[in-house]
Amino acid sequence: MQTFVALIAVVVVVVGALWILVPAVYGLPPVSTNPERIRRALELANLQPDETLYDLGCGHGRVLIMATREFNAHAVGVEVGPVQCAVAWVNALRNGVRSKVHIEAGDFYKSDLRQADVVYMYLTSSHAGRIQKKLEKELRSGARVVTVSFDLEGWQPVFFDRENLIYLYIK
Ligand SMILES: C[S@@+](CC[C@H](N)C(=O)[O-])C[C@H]1O[C@@H](n2cnc3c(N)ncnc32)[C@H](O)[C@@H]1O
Repeated sequence: MQTFVALIAVVVVVVGALWILVPAVYGLPPVSTNPERIRRALELANLQPDETLYDLGCGHGRVLIMATREFNAHAVGVEVGPVQCAVAWVNALRNGVRSKVHIEAGDFYKSDLRQADVVYMYLTSSHAGRIQKKLEKELRSGARVVTVSFDLEGWQPVFFDRENLIYLYIK
């Protein structure tokens, strides 16, 4: 019994450490956007049924669930944290949207964004320059980009929601 409890404690500590440490290594906290802000961002992006949304750094998948459940879109979440990937997968299953959600485990700088209609990002300004170059190279013309809490220097937002700090860009 003691061994079992010790094993559970080790698993909890390892999972908890991975949850926090992997995002930290990549320079981001594992913090989710609140649902109202996500909804506002997806509305601003005018996400349409059957379009494909990418969430770069999808965490436990809150954006993916809302994009598929409320907007009837397809959603791809790119996430480097293994625990976050597993939780996002389970959340999609629990919410009945597994067939519309794809979780890509890995670094979003290595992801292929050519299929994206909308890209959602809740990152920090330290990522802006590098991700901007990738968006410029890969996104199709007319694709929309919504950023939460940071802007893309050199790109002119077509809309800025000051209250929620959401920027909308169209390539
Ligand atoms: C601030 S959270 C945002 C979570 C989610 N997008 C939301 O808005 O609720 C950022 C997430 O990005 C992930 N992340 C950080 N750098 C990454 C990278 N280079 N590639 C993939 N995921 C990354 C972190 O693990 C973390 O889960």
